Amino acid sequence: MTPVPETGPAAAAPGSPDDVLAVRNLGVTVGGRKLVEDVDFTIRAGERVGLIGESGSGKSLTALSVMGLLPEGLRASGSVRLAGVGHDLVGADEARMSRVRGKEIAMVFQEPMTALNPTMRVGRQIAEVLLIHRTRPDRASARAAAVELLAQVGLPDPAAAAQAYPHQFSGGQRQRVVLAIALANDPALLVCDEPTTALDVTVQARVLDLIVRGVQDRRSAMLFITHDLAVVATACERVMVMYGGRLVESGPVREVFTRPRHRYTQGLIGASDLTVVDDRGRLATIPGSVPAAGRFPAGCVFRNRCAQATDVCATRPEWVPTGPDSGYACFHPVPAGSGAPGTGSPTNQEAGRG
Ligand SMILES: Nc1ncnc2c1ncn2[C@@H]1O[C@H](COP(=O)(O)OP(=O)(O)OP(=O)(O)O)[C@@H](O)[C@H]1O
Ligand code: SF4
Ligand SMILES: [Mg+2]
Repeated sequence: MTPVPETGPAAAAPGSPDDVLAVRNLGVTVGGRKLVEDVDFTIRAGERVGLIGESGSGKSLTALSVMGLLPEGLRASGSVRLAGVGHDLVGADEARMSRVRGKEIAMVFQEPMTALNPTMRVGRQIAEVLLIHRTRPDRASARAAAVELLAQVGLPDPAAAAQAYPHQFSGGQRQRVVLAIALANDPALLVCDEPTTALDVTVQARVLDLIVRGVQDRRSAMLFITHDLAVVATACERVMVMYGGRLVESGPVREVFTRPRHRYTQGLIGASDLTVVDDRGRLATIPGSVPAAGRFPAGCVFRNRCAQATDVCATRPEWVPTGPDSGYACFHPVPAGSGAPGTGSPTNQEAGRG
């Protein structure tokens, strides 16, 4: 059988020549339940984009859909196109995805051990990824490149590190090894899902710095999932905000953090700032909790927790293009110049629960 061409300059680009990733109308379902819906965004070459939102908002499922790594039983719909790859990643079989993963698109997850083979020396693990994707012609040059990559991620004696097994490293060092593997083939896009969350506070900043430097040196784009807004401010140029399986807002980091337009973003930013108190002097948090997946209210998904909700919010908010992405417009957006305090107490906690 003639192999289908997978990559190359002739393959379709997502849209503009600058786009690396184009996600259109992405949905994820399990049984009849919608876990992610209508997610639409674009990442340009070399762009670093943060993805934030409370626990359960659908960040990881979005990233896993892009990687073709959704857990058993979950189904993605819509389209995910990567520049230079001639087929849609949604619905691509494992053989095709394994040619893309680790080459055009690579990932760093929270727990490094899930990405490492405990029985193989780390130098060999890095060399393998270079050889599988034919980035290096032979084993000797792949091994030399592995040592160089271990040096780039700041391991003090890279030649000795290459000979060690994963259990011989600390958590922070293991995440550096994972980063070396992820960056080995100079991916066009690096996907990071809370890569520093499991690490000691003292090493978090150093690993973050290595990630940012690694993608900058390669001009790789980055999708970075985190709960830490300060990390987004440091590492990313643009930020996307997710809630209830949908993107509710996106824009340049400075703009979204200082002038959020969606009430959910406003609450999230208020809740992350320990200096922000409400009119009764209490620390601002978003009242209420995220409903279970598939049980978000109709209309605006944030409606049952939003102090500003009115009847109009029960109708589906308009889906609007916002620069390279789309998001749901808020019917009562935050007035310009009002900063980002908390959302106050919701007046309609039970509205639309279902
Ligand atoms: N395998 C699964 N089967 C059923 N539901 C799932 C599955 N994986 C995730 N979900 C549900 O989908 C929703 C979104 O999950 P996801 O892991 O994307 O959230 P998240 O934004 O990454 O949260 P966190 O910040 O806690 O990592 C959650 O409500 C979760 O319970
Ligand atoms: S004001 Fe309405 S549309 Fe805006 S976040 Fe609140 S409930 Fe949603
Ligand atoms: Mg997650």
